[in-house]
Amino acid sequence: MDEDIILDFQHITKTFPGVVALNDVSFQVRLGEIHGLCGENGAGKSTLMKILSGVYPHGEYEGKIFYSGIELKLEGSAIHQAGEEGIAIVYQELTLVPGMTVGENIFLGKEPVERGSINWDRVYSDTQKILDEFHLDIHPQDVVKNLGVGKMQMTEIAKALSENAKVLILDEPTSALSEAEVFQLMEILRTLKQHGVTCIYITHKIEEFFLIADSVTVLRDGKVVTTQQAKDLDSQKLVKYMVGREMKERFPKGDRIPGEVIFEVTDLRAEDPNKGREVLKGVSFNLRKGEILGIAGLMGSGRTELVMTLFGEYGKITQGTIKLEGQKVNIKNGNDAMKKGISLVPEDRKRHGLVLSQSILKNISLPNLERFASFLRINTDAELVESLKYAKELAIKTPNLFVTAESLSGGNQQKVVIAKWLMSGPKILIMDDPTRGVDVGAKFEIYKLMNKLAEKGISIIMISSDLQEVLGMSDRVMVMCHGRSNGTLSIADATQERIMALATGIA
Ligand SMILES: Nc1ncnc2c1ncn2[C@@H]1O[C@H](COP(=O)(O)OP(=O)(O)OP(=O)(O)O)[C@@H](O)[C@H]1O
Ligand SMILES: [Mg+2]
Repeated sequence: MDEDIILDFQHITKTFPGVVALNDVSFQVRLGEIHGLCGENGAGKSTLMKILSGVYPHGEYEGKIFYSGIELKLEGSAIHQAGEEGIAIVYQELTLVPGMTVGENIFLGKEPVERGSINWDRVYSDTQKILDEFHLDIHPQDVVKNLGVGKMQMTEIAKALSENAKVLILDEPTSALSEAEVFQLMEILRTLKQHGVTCIYITHKIEEFFLIADSVTVLRDGKVVTTQQAKDLDSQKLVKYMVGREMKERFPKGDRIPGEVIFEVTDLRAEDPNKGREVLKGVSFNLRKGEILGIAGLMGSGRTELVMTLFGEYGKITQGTIKLEGQKVNIKNGNDAMKKGISLVPEDRKRHGLVLSQSILKNISLPNLERFASFLRINTDAELVESLKYAKELAIKTPNLFVTAESLSGGNQQKVVIAKWLMSGPKILIMDDPTRGVDVGAKFEIYKLMNKLAEKGISIIMISSDLQEVLGMSDRVMVMCHGRSNGTLSIADATQERIMALATGIA
């Protein structure tokens, strides 16, 4: 046995009804390395990691995994067993209990018991130690649901670290993190590497592999395409391995001239629904017909709160006006917004966008059923044809539309949410981080679709933390800072530096 190899996947095959998720996958992971795992949405990355962590125990897949030279056979309550073996996983979807504190979550199921009762002092002091060790700015007593997505993700990672992992699996850990938090995570991973921890790292942000990975394995359609040293790769090569063809440009060219102003927001102020604290402190901007307006800003600058307010699903508006096609409007809730022609692809799709237990078809068509109804009956053919059209357009990877949304890969779930809102035929489409967790090929498809919609006269508001994306897709960029609109730049004047200056409040 090669002492250097900690994990050896041999001929792993895993099927679901109608889907071969993994097809004869073999590759090796070296002891102490950071091993990147990449591939398009639905390529099989998460499924492979669920096998490694025991979600799909021994017997539910074909092939063998050798772990430090010994065959890994996880069974029974496999997840705890994987933990005992020193394999910890941070899932793509957050798994924390929202109503519990950070400490309670980290020690859930392994609380220190003394004389028959849980020693809470130790829970919290040990939590503090873990948080300190990795310089995480989180309080052990914070209730998870009050943390931002970024901090929740950090808590999830701290939880995995508390188990003294030898192998740490991170499935898209940075999709919800701000740039500063990503930087911090990279530091944590470097520290762990010094301690000899092996890490398997999944992301759709290709640049991250070159920052952090020693080697990279590419999966396509459930098969291994290649395993290589990161230093022998560049992003163009990597993308080619992933999608199986050359991709010359990241952003498709649009061909549009925005028309008259159709939406106008003036000095909008709004309060947090729970705490009654002023979160939007004066936002003004306008939107033209057939325009793509990018909204940039740091995490916490109020971007999501702004669009949720415009959609009628946030706190109380205390001041300001919203005008749609010249008329003052008062948007009561999401349904009302949709009736008025405003749709929103929300940031947290799991909570606001999808019913996981329902079929893909129902998820796409549910809010649009009125369109298929005549004389109280649903025209199911039209419903299916129309839904299929969008599923195809977005290249949703699934055997058919009758399987549950739950069975889709993370990125494909996102596409379902986008399809649903596109079908409602809005005048204004608000997209909050529309390409988060979406692979490069599908991103390009979403961009093309955005261009097409804008050319048809639909106005789009797009929030994005990816400045390249903002610059590549927008006609104008509005920048937010501390709950205010701090300036709008035409794309000809917009540069990364100018946006950052407005976002940080320097300009
Ligand atoms: N529980 C399940 N039931 C049925 N099919 C499933 C299930 N889990 C995954 N699949 C299918 O297996 C394939 C691989 O999915 P997986 O989640 O591993 O992809 P992924 O590479 O992690 O994608 P993403 O980047 O979108 O997260 C997909 O076609 C998916 O629909
Ligand atoms: Mg996945």
